Amino acid sequence: MIAKSLNISLMSNLPLKERIDAIRLEAESEFKKATTSRDLYDLKVRILGKTGSFQSVMKEMGSLPPAEKPMAGKLVNEAKQALEALYSQCDESLKSAELAAKLKAESLDLTLPGVPTPMGAQHPVSLVMEEISMILSRMGYSVRTGPLIETDRNNFEGLNVPKDHPARDMQDTFYIDETHVLRTHTSPIQVRTYENEKPPLRIAAPGSVFRCDSDVSHSPNFHQIEGICVDRKVSMADLKGTVTYFVGEFFGKGLKTRFRPSFFPFTEPSAEIDCQCAVCKGKGCRMCSDTGWVEIGGSGLIHPNVLSFAGLDPKEWQGFAFGFGIERMAIIKYGINDIRLFSDNNVRFLEQFSV
Ligand code: PHE
Repeated sequence: MIAKSLNISLMSNLPLKERIDAIRLEAESEFKKATTSRDLYDLKVRILGKTGSFQSVMKEMGSLPPAEKPMAGKLVNEAKQALEALYSQCDESLKSAELAAKLKAESLDLTLPGVPTPMGAQHPVSLVMEEISMILSRMGYSVRTGPLIETDRNNFEGLNVPKDHPARDMQDTFYIDETHVLRTHTSPIQVRTYENEKPPLRIAAPGSVFRCDSDVSHSPNFHQIEGICVDRKVSMADLKGTVTYFVGEFFGKGLKTRFRPSFFPFTEPSAEIDCQCAVCKGKGCRMCSDTGWVEIGGSGLIHPNVLSFAGLDPKEWQGFAFGFGIERMAIIKYGINDIRLFSDNNVRFLEQFSV
Protein backbone atom coordinates (compact mmCIF):
# COMPACT_ATOMS: atom_id res chain seq x y z
CA MET A 1 0.00 0.00 0.00
CA ILE A 2 2.84 2.32 0.75
CA ALA A 3 4.36 1.57 -2.64
CA LYS A 4 1.11 2.60 -4.24
CA SER A 5 0.59 5.71 -2.15
CA LEU A 6 4.14 6.77 -2.88
CA ASN A 7 3.90 6.08 -6.56
CA ILE A 8 5.94 8.84 -8.08
CA SER A 9 4.50 8.47 -11.57
CA LEU A 10 1.09 9.54 -10.22
CA MET A 11 2.62 12.72 -8.88
CA SER A 12 5.25 13.35 -11.52
CA ASN A 13 3.44 16.40 -12.90
CA LEU A 14 3.74 18.21 -9.60
CA PRO A 15 6.67 20.59 -9.01
CA LEU A 16 9.64 18.95 -7.26
CA LYS A 17 9.22 20.58 -3.83
CA GLU A 18 5.61 19.55 -3.61
CA ARG A 19 6.51 16.02 -4.58
CA ILE A 20 9.19 15.83 -1.92
CA ASP A 21 6.81 17.19 0.68
CA ALA A 22 4.16 14.72 -0.40
CA ILE A 23 6.56 11.80 -0.11
CA ARG A 24 7.71 13.06 3.26
CA LEU A 25 4.19 13.55 4.64
CA GLU A 26 3.04 10.20 3.41
CA ALA A 27 6.17 8.49 4.74
CA GLU A 28 5.83 10.15 8.14
CA SER A 29 2.27 8.99 8.52
CA GLU A 30 3.19 5.45 7.36
CA PHE A 31 6.19 5.30 9.74
CA LYS A 32 3.93 6.20 12.63
CA LYS A 33 1.41 3.54 11.65
CA ALA A 34 3.98 0.72 11.55
CA THR A 35 3.29 -1.75 14.35
CA THR A 36 6.48 -3.84 14.22
CA SER A 37 10.11 -2.89 13.75
CA ARG A 38 10.21 -5.32 10.83
CA ASP A 39 7.37 -3.50 8.99
CA LEU A 40 9.03 -0.20 9.76
CA TYR A 41 12.29 -1.39 8.27
CA ASP A 42 10.53 -2.60 5.09
CA LEU A 43 8.95 0.85 4.75
CA LYS A 44 12.29 2.56 5.14
CA VAL A 45 13.78 0.40 2.38
CA ARG A 46 10.88 1.23 0.07
CA ILE A 47 11.15 4.97 0.65
CA LEU A 48 14.83 5.64 1.29
CA GLY A 49 16.41 2.55 -0.30
CA LYS A 50 18.20 2.33 -3.67
CA THR A 51 15.02 1.69 -5.62
CA GLY A 52 12.87 3.75 -3.27
CA SER A 53 10.68 6.83 -3.96
CA PHE A 54 13.42 9.25 -2.95
CA GLN A 55 15.92 7.80 -5.35
CA SER A 56 13.56 8.33 -8.29
CA VAL A 57 13.12 11.97 -7.31
CA MET A 58 16.87 12.36 -7.08
CA LYS A 59 17.32 10.89 -10.54
CA GLU A 60 14.95 13.49 -11.96
CA MET A 61 17.05 16.23 -10.45
CA GLY A 62 19.54 15.62 -13.27
CA SER A 63 17.16 17.13 -15.77
CA LEU A 64 16.58 20.34 -13.77
CA PRO A 65 18.13 23.66 -14.92
CA PRO A 66 21.53 24.07 -13.18
CA ALA A 67 20.34 27.07 -11.18
CA GLU A 68 17.62 25.02 -9.50
CA LYS A 69 19.83 22.04 -8.69
CA PRO A 70 21.40 23.28 -5.38
CA MET A 71 18.02 24.22 -3.98
CA ALA A 72 16.49 20.94 -5.03
CA GLY A 73 19.45 18.99 -3.56
CA LYS A 74 19.02 20.80 -0.25
CA LEU A 75 15.31 20.00 -0.17
CA VAL A 76 15.91 16.31 -0.89
CA ASN A 77 18.67 16.04 1.75
CA GLU A 78 16.64 17.76 4.42
CA ALA A 79 13.66 15.56 3.78
CA LYS A 80 15.86 12.46 3.78
CA GLN A 81 17.52 13.38 7.08
CA ALA A 82 14.19 14.21 8.68
CA LEU A 83 12.81 10.84 7.60
CA GLU A 84 15.89 9.01 8.81
CA ALA A 85 15.61 10.70 12.20
CA LEU A 86 11.93 9.83 12.40
CA TYR A 87 12.75 6.26 11.43
CA SER A 88 15.29 5.95 14.27
CA GLN A 89 12.84 7.38 16.74
CA CYS A 90 9.99 5.06 15.68
CA ASP A 91 12.38 2.11 15.49
CA GLU A 92 13.63 2.71 19.01
CA SER A 93 10.19 2.91 20.53
CA LEU A 94 8.93 -0.15 18.58
CA LYS A 95 11.99 -2.15 19.60
CA SER A 96 11.70 -1.25 23.24
CA ALA A 97 7.99 -2.16 23.19
CA GLU A 98 8.88 -5.45 21.51
CA LEU A 99 11.54 -6.17 24.12
CA ALA A 100 9.13 -5.37 26.93
CA ALA A 101 6.52 -7.70 25.39
CA LYS A 102 9.14 -10.45 24.98
CA LEU A 103 10.33 -10.11 28.56
CA LYS A 104 6.76 -10.17 29.78
CA ALA A 105 5.98 -13.31 27.81
CA GLU A 106 9.11 -15.05 29.02
CA SER A 107 8.90 -13.92 32.62
CA LEU A 108 8.95 -16.59 35.35
CA ASP A 109 6.00 -16.94 37.62
CA LEU A 110 7.76 -17.79 40.85
CA THR A 111 4.49 -18.65 42.55
CA LEU A 112 3.82 -21.63 40.21
CA PRO A 113 4.42 -25.02 41.85
CA GLY A 114 7.69 -26.67 40.72
CA VAL A 115 7.92 -29.82 38.61
CA PRO A 116 8.83 -32.56 41.08
CA THR A 117 11.91 -34.66 40.28
CA PRO A 118 11.34 -38.31 41.14
CA MET A 119 13.72 -39.29 43.90
CA GLY A 120 15.15 -42.74 44.46
CA ALA A 121 15.25 -44.29 47.90
CA GLN A 122 17.55 -46.84 49.42
CA HIS A 123 16.20 -50.39 49.46
CA PRO A 124 15.14 -51.37 53.00
CA VAL A 125 17.59 -54.30 52.88
CA SER A 126 20.52 -51.96 52.08
CA LEU A 127 19.25 -49.52 54.68
CA VAL A 128 19.14 -52.13 57.45
CA MET A 129 22.47 -53.65 56.37
CA GLU A 130 24.06 -50.21 56.49
CA GLU A 131 22.48 -49.36 59.84
CA ILE A 132 23.66 -52.61 61.45
CA SER A 133 27.17 -52.09 60.01
CA MET A 134 27.18 -48.56 61.47
CA ILE A 135 26.15 -49.77 64.93
CA LEU A 136 28.79 -52.52 64.88
CA SER A 137 31.39 -50.00 63.63
CA ARG A 138 30.66 -47.81 66.61
CA MET A 139 31.23 -50.90 68.77
CA GLY A 140 34.71 -51.36 67.28
CA TYR A 141 33.91 -53.79 64.44
CA SER A 142 35.44 -53.31 60.97
CA VAL A 143 33.43 -54.24 57.88
CA ARG A 144 34.80 -57.03 55.63
CA THR A 145 33.17 -58.50 52.54
CA GLY A 146 33.72 -61.53 50.32
CA PRO A 147 32.65 -63.00 46.94
CA LEU A 148 29.22 -64.52 46.28
CA ILE A 149 30.80 -67.60 44.66
CA GLU A 150 32.86 -69.24 47.37
CA THR A 151 35.12 -72.22 47.58
CA ASP A 152 33.79 -75.31 49.32
CA ARG A 153 36.78 -74.88 51.64
CA ASN A 154 35.74 -71.40 52.89
CA ASN A 155 32.00 -72.02 52.95
CA PHE A 156 32.19 -75.44 54.67
CA GLU A 157 35.56 -77.06 55.45
CA GLY A 158 37.10 -74.09 57.23
CA LEU A 159 33.94 -73.88 59.31
CA ASN A 160 34.16 -77.42 60.65
CA VAL A 161 31.84 -78.92 58.01
CA PRO A 162 33.99 -81.57 56.30
CA LYS A 163 33.04 -83.18 53.00
CA ASP A 164 30.30 -85.82 53.25
CA HIS A 165 29.47 -84.70 56.79
CA PRO A 166 25.73 -84.80 57.62
CA ALA A 167 25.92 -81.17 58.83
CA ARG A 168 26.12 -80.17 55.15
CA ASP A 169 22.43 -80.99 54.86
CA MET A 170 21.62 -78.07 57.20
CA GLN A 171 22.08 -75.68 54.31
CA ASP A 172 20.49 -76.48 50.94
CA THR A 173 23.32 -75.49 48.67
CA PHE A 174 23.61 -74.32 45.07
CA TYR A 175 26.74 -76.07 43.80
CA ILE A 176 28.58 -74.41 40.92
CA ASP A 177 31.00 -77.34 40.50
CA GLU A 178 32.86 -79.81 42.74
CA THR A 179 34.73 -77.10 44.61
CA HIS A 180 32.57 -73.96 44.28
CA VAL A 181 29.22 -72.97 45.75
CA LEU A 182 27.01 -69.87 45.93
CA ARG A 183 27.84 -68.97 49.52
CA THR A 184 25.14 -70.22 51.87
CA HIS A 185 26.02 -67.74 54.65
CA THR A 186 28.43 -64.86 55.33
CA SER A 187 30.54 -67.04 57.70
CA PRO A 188 33.18 -67.78 54.99
CA ILE A 189 34.28 -64.14 55.40
CA GLN A 190 35.55 -65.31 58.81
CA VAL A 191 37.80 -67.91 57.16
CA ARG A 192 39.07 -65.32 54.65
CA THR A 193 39.80 -62.78 57.38
CA TYR A 194 41.88 -65.26 59.45
CA GLU A 195 44.13 -65.74 56.40
CA ASN A 196 45.10 -62.08 56.24
CA GLU A 197 44.61 -60.63 59.71
CA LYS A 198 45.78 -61.66 63.15
CA PRO A 199 43.74 -61.46 66.37
CA PRO A 200 42.56 -59.59 68.36
CA LEU A 201 39.82 -59.13 65.70
CA ARG A 202 36.40 -57.58 65.57
CA ILE A 203 34.80 -58.00 62.16
CA ALA A 204 31.33 -57.26 60.70
CA ALA A 205 30.60 -59.26 57.54
CA PRO A 206 27.44 -58.19 55.63
CA GLY A 207 26.24 -59.54 52.29
CA SER A 208 23.99 -61.54 50.01
CA VAL A 209 23.63 -65.33 50.53
CA PHE A 210 21.92 -68.15 48.62
CA ARG A 211 20.05 -71.33 49.56
CA CYS A 212 18.16 -73.75 47.39
CA ASP A 213 14.97 -73.04 49.31
CA SER A 214 11.81 -71.17 48.39
CA ASP A 215 8.41 -70.81 50.08
CA VAL A 216 6.31 -68.04 51.66
CA SER A 217 8.90 -67.28 54.34
CA HIS A 218 12.09 -68.36 52.51
CA SER A 219 13.73 -66.78 49.49
CA PRO A 220 16.60 -68.46 47.58
CA ASN A 221 18.53 -65.21 47.93
CA PHE A 222 18.61 -63.23 51.17
CA HIS A 223 21.04 -61.19 53.25
CA GLN A 224 22.96 -61.68 56.45
CA ILE A 225 25.38 -59.84 58.64
CA GLU A 226 27.80 -61.65 60.87
CA GLY A 227 29.74 -60.28 63.81
CA ILE A 228 33.00 -61.96 64.80
CA CYS A 229 35.20 -61.28 67.79
CA VAL A 230 38.45 -63.18 68.40
CA ASP A 231 40.49 -62.30 71.46
CA ARG A 232 41.90 -63.77 74.66
CA LYS A 233 39.49 -64.95 77.38
CA VAL A 234 36.30 -64.45 75.32
CA SER A 235 33.21 -66.05 76.87
CA MET A 236 29.45 -66.53 76.34
CA ALA A 237 28.97 -63.56 78.70
CA ASP A 238 30.76 -61.30 76.19
CA LEU A 239 28.54 -62.63 73.41
CA LYS A 240 25.36 -62.01 75.42
CA GLY A 241 26.46 -58.53 76.48
CA THR A 242 27.40 -57.58 72.92
CA VAL A 243 24.18 -58.88 71.34
CA THR A 244 21.95 -57.32 74.01
CA TYR A 245 23.66 -53.95 73.57
CA PHE A 246 23.33 -54.26 69.78
CA VAL A 247 19.59 -55.09 69.98
CA GLY A 248 19.04 -51.99 72.15
CA GLU A 249 20.82 -49.83 69.55
CA PHE A 250 18.94 -51.29 66.59
CA PHE A 251 15.38 -51.85 67.87
CA GLY A 252 15.39 -49.37 70.74
CA LYS A 253 16.40 -49.69 74.36
CA GLY A 254 14.52 -51.86 76.82
CA LEU A 255 13.96 -54.97 74.66
CA LYS A 256 15.20 -58.17 76.32
CA THR A 257 17.15 -60.88 74.51
CA ARG A 258 17.25 -64.56 75.31
CA PHE A 259 19.53 -67.38 74.16
CA ARG A 260 18.20 -70.85 73.35
CA PRO A 261 20.64 -73.77 73.05
CA SER A 262 21.11 -74.77 69.45
CA PHE A 263 23.62 -76.36 67.10
CA PHE A 264 25.94 -74.96 64.44
CA PRO A 265 28.99 -76.92 63.34
CA PHE A 266 31.21 -73.82 63.59
CA THR A 267 30.25 -72.76 67.15
CA GLU A 268 30.33 -74.58 70.48
CA PRO A 269 28.28 -73.93 72.52
CA SER A 270 25.71 -72.57 70.06
CA ALA A 271 22.62 -70.53 70.72
CA GLU A 272 19.65 -69.19 68.82
CA ILE A 273 19.08 -65.50 69.67
CA ASP A 274 15.54 -64.33 70.40
CA CYS A 275 14.61 -60.72 70.99
CA GLN A 276 11.41 -59.35 72.49
CA CYS A 277 9.07 -58.45 69.64
CA ALA A 278 9.76 -54.84 68.61
CA VAL A 279 6.18 -54.43 67.30
CA CYS A 280 4.27 -55.32 70.53
CA LYS A 281 7.21 -54.87 72.93
CA GLY A 282 6.80 -58.44 74.17
CA LYS A 283 3.03 -58.40 74.73
CA GLY A 284 2.20 -60.77 71.89
CA CYS A 285 0.93 -59.92 68.38
CA ARG A 286 0.61 -61.36 64.87
CA MET A 287 4.26 -60.59 64.09
CA CYS A 288 5.54 -62.81 66.95
CA SER A 289 2.71 -65.40 66.74
CA ASP A 290 1.53 -64.18 70.14
CA THR A 291 4.68 -65.35 71.89
CA GLY A 292 6.20 -61.91 72.52
CA TRP A 293 9.54 -63.17 71.13
CA VAL A 294 11.10 -63.27 67.65
CA GLU A 295 14.15 -65.18 66.49
CA ILE A 296 16.77 -62.87 65.00
CA GLY A 297 19.80 -65.14 64.38
CA GLY A 298 22.31 -67.73 65.42
CA SER A 299 25.39 -67.40 67.58
CA GLY A 300 27.98 -69.19 69.69
CA LEU A 301 31.59 -69.42 70.71
CA ILE A 302 33.81 -70.12 67.72
CA HIS A 303 34.52 -73.87 67.53
CA PRO A 304 38.16 -74.80 68.38
CA ASN A 305 38.34 -76.69 65.05
CA VAL A 306 37.60 -73.43 63.18
CA LEU A 307 40.38 -71.64 65.07
CA SER A 308 42.84 -74.52 64.50
CA PHE A 309 41.98 -74.61 60.78
CA ALA A 310 42.92 -70.90 60.70
CA GLY A 311 46.23 -71.64 62.42
CA LEU A 312 45.16 -70.11 65.74
CA ASP A 313 45.78 -71.96 69.03
CA PRO A 314 42.37 -72.40 70.69
CA LYS A 315 44.06 -72.41 74.10
CA GLU A 316 45.35 -68.92 73.50
CA TRP A 317 42.52 -67.47 71.38
CA GLN A 318 38.78 -67.73 71.77
CA GLY A 319 36.00 -65.98 69.97
CA PHE A 320 32.29 -65.54 69.50
CA ALA A 321 30.23 -65.11 66.37
CA PHE A 322 26.64 -64.09 65.70
CA GLY A 323 24.74 -63.95 62.43
CA PHE A 324 21.53 -62.04 61.76
CA GLY A 325 19.17 -62.31 58.80
CA ILE A 326 18.78 -58.78 57.36
CA GLU A 327 15.29 -59.31 55.90
CA ARG A 328 14.18 -60.71 59.27
CA MET A 329 15.55 -57.68 61.08
CA ALA A 330 13.81 -55.35 58.60
CA ILE A 331 10.51 -57.28 58.90
CA ILE A 332 10.55 -56.90 62.67
CA LYS A 333 11.74 -53.31 62.72
CA TYR A 334 9.25 -52.01 60.14
CA GLY A 335 6.39 -54.48 60.77
CA ILE A 336 6.49 -55.84 57.19
CA ASN A 337 4.26 -58.88 56.74
CA ASP A 338 5.49 -60.49 53.53
CA ILE A 339 9.13 -61.32 52.68
CA ARG A 340 8.32 -61.17 48.94
CA LEU A 341 7.84 -57.38 49.18
CA PHE A 342 11.63 -57.06 49.34
CA SER A 343 12.06 -58.46 45.83
CA ASP A 344 8.79 -57.33 44.16
CA ASN A 345 10.30 -53.94 43.32
CA ASN A 346 7.03 -52.14 43.98
CA VAL A 347 7.99 -48.47 44.13
CA ARG A 348 5.10 -47.60 46.48
CA PHE A 349 6.49 -50.07 49.00
CA LEU A 350 10.14 -49.14 48.51
CA GLU A 351 9.77 -45.35 48.62
CA GLN A 352 8.39 -45.52 52.16
CA PHE A 353 11.91 -46.10 53.40
CA SER A 354 13.46 -42.95 51.96
CA VAL A 355 15.29 -40.96 54.57
N1 PHE B 1 26.02 -68.85 59.57
C1 PHE B 1 24.86 -69.24 60.34
C2 PHE B 1 23.70 -69.46 59.39
O1 PHE B 1 23.71 -68.93 58.33
C3 PHE B 1 24.51 -68.22 61.38
C4 PHE B 1 25.55 -68.15 62.47
C5 PHE B 1 26.52 -67.20 62.39
C6 PHE B 1 25.52 -69.01 63.53
C7 PHE B 1 27.47 -67.11 63.38
C8 PHE B 1 26.45 -68.96 64.53
C9 PHE B 1 27.44 -67.99 64.46
O2 PHE B 1 22.76 -70.14 59.70
